[in-house]
Amino acid sequence: MSVTEGIAAPLRIGPHTVETPVVLAPMAGVTNAAFRRLCREHGAGLYVAEMVTSRALVERNEEALRIVTFDPDEQVRSAQVYGVDPATVGAAVKIIAGEERADHVDLNFGCPVPKVTRKGGGAVLPWKRELFTRIVSAAVDAAAPYGVPVTIKMRKGIDADHLTYLEAGLIAQEAGVAAVALHARTAADYYSGQADWDAIRQLKETVTRIPVLGNGDIWSAEDALEMMRQTGCDGVVVGRGCQGRPWLFADLAAAFAGRPERVQPGLREVAETIYRHGELMVEFFADESKGMRELRKHMAWYLKGYPVGGDARRSLAMVSTLGELTERLGALDLDAPYPGEAAEGQRGRQGTPKRPHLPDGWLDSRELDENHRRRLQEAELAVSGG
Ligand SMILES: Cc1cc2nc3c(=O)[nH]c(=O)nc-3n(C[C@H](O)[C@H](O)[C@H](O)COP(=O)(O)O)c2cc1C
Repeated sequence: MSVTEGIAAPLRIGPHTVETPVVLAPMAGVTNAAFRRLCREHGAGLYVAEMVTSRALVERNEEALRIVTFDPDEQVRSAQVYGVDPATVGAAVKIIAGEERADHVDLNFGCPVPKVTRKGGGAVLPWKRELFTRIVSAAVDAAAPYGVPVTIKMRKGIDADHLTYLEAGLIAQEAGVAAVALHARTAADYYSGQADWDAIRQLKETVTRIPVLGNGDIWSAEDALEMMRQTGCDGVVVGRGCQGRPWLFADLAAAFAGRPERVQPGLREVAETIYRHGELMVEFFADESKGMRELRKHMAWYLKGYPVGGDARRSLAMVSTLGELTERLGALDLDAPYPGEAAEGQRGRQGTPKRPHLPDGWLDSRELDENHRRRLQEAELAVSGG
C-alpha cells in the first residue's frame, strides 16, 4: 500500500500532483463550483465537477458550459465527460483542453440508470470492447496536445457474470490514460450492498503502470485508510460520504498526514456550514431562489443525527431566501453537541439490486452492431449522472 505509517504518497495524475490522494467523486446535481469550494475550504484533494455530456459541450449548450466553470483558485480544474461516440467525445475533450477550460478530464463509464443502460450507455458500455477503446483513445488523443491528462471512472461491469473492469483498466492504460478509478459495484448492484473492495485490489494488481483509485463506501477517514490498506490503491474517491459533511475532507487530510484529529462539529458549526453553502450557491447560480432550491436537498444530509425536530427540518427543506435560512438556522438548538455515531455512516443514495436493462441482444457479442450503434446515440440524451 502507499500508506507508510499513516503517511500517504501524493497522487500523480499526469503532470498534476495531488498531495493528499483524495478525489471528490463527480456527482451530478451536487459537485458544482459552490460545493467544491466548500470542500476545498475544509481539506485538500482533487475535486471533480459535475458530469457534462459530450454532445451538449460540442453544441456549446449554455448549461454544459456553466458546469465546466471553475473558481480562479481551483488549482487542478477537473471536468467529467460522458459520451458514447468517439468523434463527439474527442471533439468535446478538444473544447475543454484546447480552450483551457480544465486541466484534467475524467470519462464517466459508471452510470447504472436504466434509461441509460437500456440504450447501451454508462456502466454497460465497456462490454463493447472496441467502442470503449475508441472512445478512450479519442479522448486521450484530443487532450494530449494540450498536456491535459485523461482518466476513466467505471464500475465492475454489467453484473457478476459480465465483469469488464480488469480488461477495461488494461485497455485504458494502453490507450494512455493517466489513472483509472473503480466504483466497486456492478450496474446490477446499483447502490446496494457493500462495495467490493477486493475488486479494487485486483484492479491494482492488474493495472500496474498508472495509478488506480478506489471508490465505494468511504464514510470516514478511517474507511479511506482501510481501503488503501486492503487494496493497495493509490488514492480514494469519495462521493456520498461528503454529502452534508464537507469537513470529511479535513479528516481525510489529517488521516493521510498521519494525524489523529477528526472534525466533530456541534450543531452551531453545522449551521454555519449550511449558511456558507447557501451563500456560495446563491453566488454560483447568481440567483437567490435557485441557489436556495439547490441547497434544500443537502439539508437532510447536514442534519443527519442532530436533534432537529420534524417541523424545523421541513421548514429548512423549504427555505427560499438567505434571510429565511438565517432565521430558521437561528431557531435550532445551536448548543447541541456532535451526536457521534448517529451523524456518521451511510448517507445519500441507496437502493436495491436491479436486473440491468440492456438493449436486446447486448450480451450476445462484445462488438457493436449497427442496430445497437443507432440506439446508443440516444443514450447520451438520457444521462444524468451516476
Ligand atoms: C447524487 C449522485 C450523483 C452522481 N453522479 C455521478 C456522475 O455524474 N458521474 C459519475 O461518474 N458518478 C456519479 N455518481 C457516482 C459517484 O461518483 C460514486 O461513484 C458513487 O457514489 C460511489 O461512491 P460513494 O460510495 O463514495 O458514494 C453519482 C452519485 C450520486 C450519489
